Amino acid sequence: MNRPSAKGGAAGADAGKAGEATWDAGLYDRSFGFVSDFATDMVDLLAPKPGERIVDLGCGTGKLTAAIAAHGADVIGIDGDEAMVERARALHPHLAFQHADGRNFAIEGHADAVFSNAALHWMKEDPPGVIACVARALRLGGRFVAEMGAHRNVRIITDALYQALAEEGVPAEAIDFPWYFPRTSRYVGLLEDGGFDVTQLRYFARPTPLDDCPNGLADWIDMFGRNFTEAAPPGRVPAVIDRTVALTRDRLCPDGRWVTDYTRLRFVAIRVADE
Ligand SMILES: C[S@@+](CC[C@H](N)C(=O)[O-])C[C@H]1O[C@@H](n2cnc3c(N)ncnc32)[C@H](O)[C@@H]1O
Repeated sequence: MNRPSAKGGAAGADAGKAGEATWDAGLYDRSFGFVSDFATDMVDLLAPKPGERIVDLGCGTGKLTAAIAAHGADVIGIDGDEAMVERARALHPHLAFQHADGRNFAIEGHADAVFSNAALHWMKEDPPGVIACVARALRLGGRFVAEMGAHRNVRIITDALYQALAEEGVPAEAIDFPWYFPRTSRYVGLLEDGGFDVTQLRYFARPTPLDDCPNGLADWIDMFGRNFTEAAPPGRVPAVIDRTVALTRDRLCPDGRWVTDYTRLRFVAIRVADE
């Protein structure tokens, strides 16, 4: 199971019906606003037009959903986590949000575009199933515009987490790696097999500062690295986090500012008729 920072409570139980993760939506907005801030040019790439029907898949708390709606598009945000959907509805009561999983969401009729930022890599159980679901939601000629974590994303951090856990006697096999970070060729193949022509694609390193995280990388691990910390022996989570921070500090925080080693895959793909 993928586990970002847990909030617990009833929201967790509900979220299990669509996606299994349970997010701390408030913490996400307070300290990890960079996820959507970095993607405002993704909305430019989407180029929403007034009246277009657009799905924001894995919309989180809805910041980019609202940015798309501001162009006059008829947008629906879809997310697999009830806590995220609840917060999105509270922050943007004029917009439509749906609690559903990326593998089996459905909309009435067809959309002109499906947009997704920083979410597809969390849907690791069935990437072809997610692409098939997006294809079903789109009209022919509709566009799938997305950015996701890609091959080698946060590798310095995850290598250090594996090492810190190994030093605690936890083997790599005991850790459920939470993400799907595909190579470019692999994902293009999935898109083509799933009924898309890829018209734009960019794989790039995007060093990402953690300026809103008071405890730097420790906060990042707390938010996104639950699958790792949950594998730690009882009472050893702080030690694992401290060790991970120590192992990465020279490369990710050489001058007192944490900058994480993100790599991204950004693409535009067009829904075409099956051949
Ligand atoms: C890092 S957040 C990105 C949120 C938003 N797109 C943004 O840019 O701020 C990833 C989001 O993907 C959602 N997600 C993860 N797995 C999902 C799934 N299987 N189906 C739908 N949403 C999912 C999470 O609940 C979370 O809100």
